[in-house]
Amino acid sequence: MKFDELSFSEAPLIKNELPGIKSREILSLQEKLEGSPVSYPKGSPIAIKQGFGATIKDADDNIFIDFFGGAGVLALGHCNSYIDEKVREVQKKITHTLDFPTRVRIDLVEKIQEILPGNLKNNSKVIFGGPTGSDAVESAIKLSKTITKRHGIIAFEGAYHGMTSGALALTSGKFWKKNYMPLIPEVHFVPYAYSYRCPFRSKTAVECAEASANYYEHVLEDPHSGVVDPAMTIIEPIQGEGGSIVPHESFIRRIAEISNKYEVPIVFDEIQAGFCRTGKFFSSEHSNATPDIMTLSKALGGGFPLSAIAYRQDLDVWSKAAHIGTFRGNVSAMAAGSASIDFMLKNKLANYVEELGEYLLNKLKTIEKSSSIVGEVRGKGLMLGIEIVYDKDTKKPSPELCSKIRDEMFQRGVIIEIGGHYDNVLRFLPPLIITRKLAETGIEICIESIEKVENSIK
Ligand SMILES: Cc1ncc(COP(=O)(O)O)c(C=O)c1O
Repeated sequence: MKFDELSFSEAPLIKNELPGIKSREILSLQEKLEGSPVSYPKGSPIAIKQGFGATIKDADDNIFIDFFGGAGVLALGHCNSYIDEKVREVQKKITHTLDFPTRVRIDLVEKIQEILPGNLKNNSKVIFGGPTGSDAVESAIKLSKTITKRHGIIAFEGAYHGMTSGALALTSGKFWKKNYMPLIPEVHFVPYAYSYRCPFRSKTAVECAEASANYYEHVLEDPHSGVVDPAMTIIEPIQGEGGSIVPHESFIRRIAEISNKYEVPIVFDEIQAGFCRTGKFFSSEHSNATPDIMTLSKALGGGFPLSAIAYRQDLDVWSKAAHIGTFRGNVSAMAAGSASIDFMLKNKLANYVEELGEYLLNKLKTIEKSSSIVGEVRGKGLMLGIEIVYDKDTKKPSPELCSKIRDEMFQRGVIIEIGGHYDNVLRFLPPLIITRKLAETGIEICIESIEKVENSIK
């Protein structure tokens, strides 16, 4: 399939000063009626009229390139007709079934089983909990506690696992947690192999991976580490909100091996990096590692809210109704998810993403060399990040310059979000069906915006 037909080819097209009159009107109504936690429109102030593929039309008919992709949900873009048709067919017949089986539901589970990596493939059980990623993380917590009869959990610095109490406890960002402590007890954070800022001051990615994995083993092995044998360890094989951090491939493999050695169930959170995002169906495939439990959401539902966990069959130790919820599997989302997997396989999307991602990463590497405020460009597939600093030698993070670059890109018609430990990483998360032309245009706008902001401080 030609991806050119899936987006507005004329993007970006900015006709007026942003935000335009109609957007401003809707934004001010939102501000009046919705609560303070609303966040994305504060960074990219538009009201959306239409989404099409990797492009967005605002209320004033300005057209943007979408490098945000609904925070990774829209792997196949906005309003993908292939998905929409399958959803409409189902919506004529069924609305909601809790966990009564439907053909659509079983089709999706069979497809998930087929694409799972390593020894999970066709050898696992799937459970749909509530519809969000956080719900999947809560399911993993409950399952691992049921399996081990233990309580503690090990998570990693830079992790993002969600906003519900359990998932928030496993999320590292202090800003999100500080008003809500204590959350669930006995959660311990250990270093992730973030080689640009390695907590062990290692010089290379491989050394950082080794030191971080060794420390994890030390925590499990040393009777005086202070960490009682945990119920599970959870890790993102490639960190998303933490700043598009790709550890050396040995790291995830070792974390899985060490977990197995100490009989701690290992959970891979593939909620953001799964479903072809990084150039493989699942990001753990880059490391040839398989988890005991995997969390899935975002792209799983083809744009609709859906989440699940998949886990080894022999771990299916919980009893009937041990984990329930009214919205455990929405039929429209399942039809969309099933169509999405078909689309990904038919179009060899993982290969497309791998090639395009490598091409864009190389293009961006030029700015890493030439710019004094780009600390590091990194990523895999279409999950890329640019870390912005005041000074390349000290690596002092610059959230201020980062948000100026985001604003400049916005004014030029590209929507992008920010993440990272210090809110200083521009994060590329476009729909995977973005054309090379649109992606290149967006990247060029990004490079020009970085140069403009850099020149403004000289
Ligand atoms: C890796 C990861 N896990 C869990 C979540 C939580 O998902 P949700 O926001 O749907 O609860 C996110 C959300 O960004 C995520 O990136």
